[in-house]
Amino acid sequence: MATSTPATSPDSLAIVLAAGAGTRMKSSTPKVMHPILGTPLLGWVLDALAGAGWSRTRVVAGHGREQVIEYLTAVHGGATWVVQDEQLGTAHAVECALAGVPAESGLVLVMAGDMPLITSATLDAFRAAHVESGAAATVLTARVPDPTGYGRVIRDERGRVRAIVEHRDADSGQLAVDEINTSTYLFDATLLREALDSIGTGNSQGEQYLTDAVEILTSRGLEVGAFVVADPDEVHGINDRVQLARATRLLATRLNEAHQRAGVTLLDPATTWIEPGVEIESDVVIERNSQLSRGTVIETGAIIGPDTTLIASKVGSGACVVRSHCIEAEIGPGSSVGPFTYLRPGSVLGTNAKTGAFVEMKNSTLGVGSKVPHLSYVGDATVGDGTNIGASTVVVNYDGVDKHRTVIGDHVRIGSDSMLVAPVEVGDGAYTAAGSVITEDVPPGAIGVGRARQVNVESWVLRKRADTASARAAEAALAAAADLSPADPPPADPPPAERER
Ligand code: UD1
Ligand code: CA
Repeated sequence: MATSTPATSPDSLAIVLAAGAGTRMKSSTPKVMHPILGTPLLGWVLDALAGAGWSRTRVVAGHGREQVIEYLTAVHGGATWVVQDEQLGTAHAVECALAGVPAESGLVLVMAGDMPLITSATLDAFRAAHVESGAAATVLTARVPDPTGYGRVIRDERGRVRAIVEHRDADSGQLAVDEINTSTYLFDATLLREALDSIGTGNSQGEQYLTDAVEILTSRGLEVGAFVVADPDEVHGINDRVQLARATRLLATRLNEAHQRAGVTLLDPATTWIEPGVEIESDVVIERNSQLSRGTVIETGAIIGPDTTLIASKVGSGACVVRSHCIEAEIGPGSSVGPFTYLRPGSVLGTNAKTGAFVEMKNSTLGVGSKVPHLSYVGDATVGDGTNIGASTVVVNYDGVDKHRTVIGDHVRIGSDSMLVAPVEVGDGAYTAAGSVITEDVPPGAIGVGRARQVNVESWVLRKRADTASARAAEAALAAAADLSPADPPPADPPPAERER
């Protein structure tokens, strides 16, 4: 996510709480590792933080920490983590995150790892409001129609924030408050450390609640601000798979609309799933039921779909990919793929190339204007320019133990149903005869014929299959042919009108 936000000061720290089990997901995967459009919940949060200039991030891991740490190591190298062995409450989680961090004077942002819809823009505005107010802390809050389950923001008669009271600890007056705590806070680091020291466990869950920091600060006469989020959807936490699906829909719509505004036509946005990290130029058309995964690049004028999946694939300008599945493939400008093509990793199609129905390709290059139109497998092959691979050709690349390469030159005509047994080379301008098993190299300009000669056994059906429909059809045909023997005069020319048809 590109942004002009300056980085936070070097002593600022963002803490992401992600130690909870997420019991309602009913999953062996920790909640924050459930993916939305290919990126786990935690990844969305970390991306939003990075986009808002938070360069120091510490994730509090607990349940399923192995998966969390593996992800952070592999994908989010910038983020560090601490392990909270026992989940003693959100205040305890923050204490764990601050342990070992030298006492500092900067800002501390605390948020939960299960809020994938939060945007960098909101985090920016939140930080700006906090810095401008000079408050000891600011809470990101939301007004929601149904506050059930959330901590309520309690304000005094002058509208100043006094405390946050958890749903299960609230009285009936407090329960009526519709402004909720989103679990996202900005603190002055020193004041946060002081507040944490006095947080106890005097609540219905016997946990150390971070929310208590608010009342601790205000009772010292310090100001705590509230920043009400404009769109409550952004702070929607994910607790179960219904909410996961809803958040997925919202994020997909957000990404789809960004592409639409950038000049991409989506014929059916509801069935178009575009992951983050996909580049699409203007005047591309995406037809219904298409999925585009991270790393995919589509150049202008291309038409994708319907029913197409592109995974980390590149599609050149004006190319067309219909009802196909492509993984790490490169499709040249003006090329045509599908319907029903399967391009596996390392498939590279040159300009104006074609792969048609029921064609599978892997680790192979197809030159400019070359075609594999029907029912073929091309694996570990290099195909030159202007070459045509006939229907039902198989590049036999695997001897049962090892894979071997096949090289096919320019302007070659591979006859239908050829088996090209690798390693083998077919030279420029060569042909292979239909039905051939090609085990030897074919020199340029030669035709490789690798099949038995045809033998016709005359009248075999009349003798061996007498009185069948086939035998009767053959008898009739033979009789008609005898009637047309050269002894008979040739039939008159048809009238001119009929000839033209
Ligand atoms: C918390 C807030 C509540 C707020 C709500 C918003 C508290 C006491 N309450 O309630 O005011 O309205 O979030 O969703 O903070 N976590 C840890 N370690 C722990 C405990 C929790 O890492 O020991 C993490 C969880 O994984 C989760 C987040 O902190 O990501 C919030 O904890 P949770 O127990 O879900 O708090 P809520 O009851 O949702
Ligand atoms: Ca929660």
